[in-house]
Amino acid sequence: MTHSTLALEAVGVTVAYGGNPVLRDLNVQVRRGEIYALLGGNGAGKSTTLNAFLGFARPDAGKVAVCGIDVGADVLGARAQLAYVPENVALYEHLDARENLEYFLRLANTAWTDESIGEALRAVRLDESAWKRRLGGYSKGMRQKVAIALAVARAVPVLLLDEPTSGLDPKATSEFNALLHKLRGDGAAIFMVTHDLLGAADVADRIGFLDRGHIGHEVAAGGGERFDVRDLYRRYAGTREAA
Ligand SMILES: Nc1ncnc2c1ncn2[C@@H]1O[C@H](COP(=O)(O)OP(=O)(O)O)[C@@H](O)[C@H]1O
Ligand SMILES: [Mg+2]
Repeated sequence: MTHSTLALEAVGVTVAYGGNPVLRDLNVQVRRGEIYALLGGNGAGKSTTLNAFLGFARPDAGKVAVCGIDVGADVLGARAQLAYVPENVALYEHLDARENLEYFLRLANTAWTDESIGEALRAVRLDESAWKRRLGGYSKGMRQKVAIALAVARAVPVLLLDEPTSGLDPKATSEFNALLHKLRGDGAAIFMVTHDLLGAADVADRIGFLDRGHIGHEVAAGGGERFDVRDLYRRYAGTREAA
């Protein structure tokens, strides 16, 4: 694995809150052009894993890197490579899609034009009739599209997604998964955490099981073969919470 294709790397990461270890010796690698799903139940440490990559949770031991940049040494450099889509996307409700992108691109110090913003909104297939509507009236799926359009406009190589399909209906979920496949085809590294086993089986190239803060087992979809969902389910049901 060459350095440049390695988008996310956690090596021996331990994160404890008030003496309680939430992540214990967590190891994971995600390459460009790959979708990785981290499965775990409530409280398993999924969001904490994302927070470690974002530099919000400081490891007590181990190392976290984004595109070869050590998060502990250069958190801003690492974050510049990342787009983070939280479970509930926080955007400006009284602004429309274009205005939200303009605002956040300005914050991110990214140059934009009307055209580049239009391209990003088209890339995520946000219905053009919605572009001039305030986000207050958007569905969760539409908000996520705007959040991902921001990642597209920033041209970041790595996407971190927290429970992206929880609360989406099947049509919105399948549209969302198609969008992830497209971004992967463009060379993005996508790391999503979820408790949705079927969704993970649908979209991921590899699935890791977070068991007591440690990835004890990983499975890969081999050569066009999808996962054996029953086998996934048995493994998933056998995992335990962190603390
Ligand atoms: N900032 C924090 N301070 C203290 N405890 C936390 C903090 N963040 C998470 N935890 C605890 O760590 C455990 C894992 O949380 P989290 O990573 O949010 O789980 P998940 O996203 O898998 O549901 C939980 O027991 C949670 O209460
Ligand atoms: Mg969470």
